[in-house]
Amino acid sequence: MQSLIPLMRSISGAVVLVLALSGNSVAEAPLGLGRAVEQTEIDAWDIDVRPDGKGLPAGQGTVAHGEQVYAQYCLSCHGEAGKGGINDQLVGRIPFDAFPFGSDPGKTKTVGNYWPYATTLFDYIRRAMPYSSPGVLSNEEVYSVTAYLLYLNRIVSQDTIIDADTLPTVRMPARDRFVIDDRTRTESFLRQ
Ligand code: HEC
Repeated sequence: MQSLIPLMRSISGAVVLVLALSGNSVAEAPLGLGRAVEQTEIDAWDIDVRPDGKGLPAGQGTVAHGEQVYAQYCLSCHGEAGKGGINDQLVGRIPFDAFPFGSDPGKTKTVGNYWPYATTLFDYIRRAMPYSSPGVLSNEEVYSVTAYLLYLNRIVSQDTIIDADTLPTVRMPARDRFVIDDRTRTESFLRQ
């Protein structure tokens, strides 16, 4: 820590020097660095979807379309109908929706037996999948492949339309297996 203090002093010294040298132009372009960020650039990064569905985009998806999306972009790694692939198994329920992961850590976790929210499935797929080229799917394709995975897990029916209104209403089998760790009291603070 002590060695940091001279370093911080020299950094703040440099900042003062730059401000002094840049004189009148400081107000227009502080330090002469960077530029204002366009709203469209912020929007491109601002894609998080929360458990309650906040942040879900416009558009909708169907199970039938999701099957096509899955065949094209997901099947090679996750296997036929979400099982038996070279990467994570996505489909599978446990009888009576039991939750044995504490006593049996080797048990395979899937979307159907472990994920507490359907909304974050959309978020995860849009953000991270396909693994080799995340970001290539349109919002409609993400909605559809989400619908297909929920259907394969027997959570929604085949004719379900998934969109910003319906996805947050999907109740996942493992929903009540998770509780909020509120030791920091952040959650109750945010709710006020
Ligand atoms: C190139 C291989 C590959 C492709 C293609 C691929 N995935 Fe994945 N997927 C992975 C890997 C690897 C992981 C584990 C990533 C990790 O744990 O960080 C994963 C994890 C996941 C998970 C999380 C599983 C869990 O329970 O933790 C989901 C959901 C998922 N993929 C959906 C998809 C969907 C939908 C597609 C098609 C749009 C897709 N993946 C395409 C390799 C792939």
